[in-house]
Amino acid sequence: MIKPVGLTEGHYECRSIDDTLPIFTDLLALEVVERKEDQVVLKHPNTDWLLVVHEAGPEATDKPHNNHYGFRVENKEEVDAAWNYIKEHRDKYRIQHVTKPHESHFAYSIYFKEPGGNDLEIEYYDPQALAEGRRIAAPPWKTRIAEDRFPERGYIPQAMSHGTLQCDDKKASERFYRDVLGLEIVGGGRMSVYIKHPSTPWYIVVLPGRRRRYLSPSNRFTLKVASPEDVEESHLEFTRSGKEFGITQLEDIEKNNGEVSFLFSDLDQNWWEVAATSER
Ligand SMILES: [Fe+2]
Repeated sequence: MIKPVGLTEGHYECRSIDDTLPIFTDLLALEVVERKEDQVVLKHPNTDWLLVVHEAGPEATDKPHNNHYGFRVENKEEVDAAWNYIKEHRDKYRIQHVTKPHESHFAYSIYFKEPGGNDLEIEYYDPQALAEGRRIAAPPWKTRIAEDRFPERGYIPQAMSHGTLQCDDKKASERFYRDVLGLEIVGGGRMSVYIKHPSTPWYIVVLPGRRRRYLSPSNRFTLKVASPEDVEESHLEFTRSGKEFGITQLEDIEKNNGEVSFLFSDLDQNWWEVAATSER
């Protein structure tokens, strides 16, 4: 079993970093933490959840809609403003399509497809839903970003709020997330389940999918554990009894610049990473 101290990274694959990067910096208020030749690490100023974007070249396929990331604004009107702004600047950013603002339960959002083949969402979530027990409705930022930091668009993405995954059997996956990954179930409906780490507000929405298209390990979430020994312990446990837990593929431990980690694929063939930093 994994004892994560955090859900610390989301990884995603695009075609060209040069094409995808402006989408995040200009339209979603992310900042570049580190750039390498085929990888860029991004962060929203209000979210300590890193988004690592991997360049996979022109052959990379479009990813399913239910593997998107979502960014939250403070007011409903901002979703309309974002829709207008993105429609007007579609050509500049080579955005393939933008959906009309759509209302569902407590959320109001648009989706657009960036040139790297991924859907992204800008959403408003009614904080009143908190009173009805929807914990994810709580605004996930401590300090709101002022307009001078992200001017002239008519909307301000205040946080990166969620990622999305597909599963085959909701009940089995829910058990796996709780009992094997050590994550918390924070809600969900008849179809969906929402998971997160207890210490942070961001979450992953998991939805059952039919005719699934499996993604490469470059599309994954990272669970941070306390020490390299914990990484090794989890790896040993998965080597011995991973099949029983539902692990479908297990990669070797890697050591890179003081980080110890390994990748594995879960019961739904979604990829995860377990990582820790060595004390130096
Ligand atoms: Fe979403």
